[in-house]
Amino acid sequence: MTEKDFILSGYQNLKKEGKVGYKSPSNIALIKYWGKRANQIPANPSLSFTLDACATKTTMSFERLAKPAENFSFELYFEGEPKPDFKPKIETFFKRISPYIPFLKEYHFVINTGNSFPHSSGIASSASGMSALALCLMEIERGHQPTMDDDFFLKKASFLARLGSGSACRSIEGSIVQWGKHDAISDSTDLYGVKYSDEVHSVFDNYHDTILLVDKGEKQVSSTVGHNLMHDHPFATQRFEQAHRNLSQLMTVFKKGDLDGFVKIVESEALTLHAMMMTSMPYFILMKPNTLEIINKIWAFREASKTHVCFTLDAGANVHVLYPENEKEIIHQFIKDELVAYCQNQQYICDRIGFGARKLTV
Ligand code: DP6
Repeated sequence: MTEKDFILSGYQNLKKEGKVGYKSPSNIALIKYWGKRANQIPANPSLSFTLDACATKTTMSFERLAKPAENFSFELYFEGEPKPDFKPKIETFFKRISPYIPFLKEYHFVINTGNSFPHSSGIASSASGMSALALCLMEIERGHQPTMDDDFFLKKASFLARLGSGSACRSIEGSIVQWGKHDAISDSTDLYGVKYSDEVHSVFDNYHDTILLVDKGEKQVSSTVGHNLMHDHPFATQRFEQAHRNLSQLMTVFKKGDLDGFVKIVESEALTLHAMMMTSMPYFILMKPNTLEIINKIWAFREASKTHVCFTLDAGANVHVLYPENEKEIIHQFIKDELVAYCQNQQYICDRIGFGARKLTV
């Protein structure tokens, strides 16, 4: 599909009013997206586990205006309170998607949103937030085009979410989603995320992700600034090639159920992401001393216990601890005994691989 396929024209019978809602999960990248071109086109392919517990719930009421708005007309409430500082981000999102959603200026919207995870936990809410919003808009569009099929609905929801935040395009479906052109994945595209449809060994069913909240502070650097630093980065070409190779290798790992191979690729991707940040100009370090303490503890425990616990990181200090279902008891105990002490206010979130967004009854 191309961008043009997402431009619908000739809505018939625009509804007067209505309300829709979606719950959309966060996701954790195993192969990292870091670097993008204009229009939210990724510099390399990425792949993520869709999460389950960390999610955003969004409802959107809409009412037809007497005449189309000059600018976008909407109110925004976050956990019940007006949230003016979120408005510019949504305005930018609306501007980017308006060629694809022609009815945007025809309505006044009331958006109510909230996260399942604690506010300012350092967990990025852009993936779950933007995907929930994209799904609400698609639900309104489907109301105008009742013959729309599910395949188009999901692809366009992911396409729109990408324009809000790149990683959000991987938060529509579960349980493994790939985004960005890759030779070995025939339906892969830079335009939207696709459900990973190659063989995946059952050892990856119900995979766990315990998120250790190491630092809940404001991000030192926005991901958009971080992505842009890849433009003149001395190691950019090698990094983008490496992401392609790592994704190819991960496909074999998924097929074989090779947990040792999984650990190597996932941890290397996380450290490479941070290495890119440390070697950009300007450079920055997002890990905290406790991030490193946790990594060292994980390595020592993995060696001693012969389990397959491993870590990954986002663009921040928090640590995602990943492990298979059949090792969960011993690793839970290890987290409680040895890792929780390094979390801010001992806070952590038990999450696992999930099955994607779902519609809310509103
Ligand atoms: C490190 O999706 O937040 O989490 O497209 O600028 O909104 P924007 O960036 P964003 O970048 C996420 C980067 C990452 C890795 C990943 O999720 O693949």
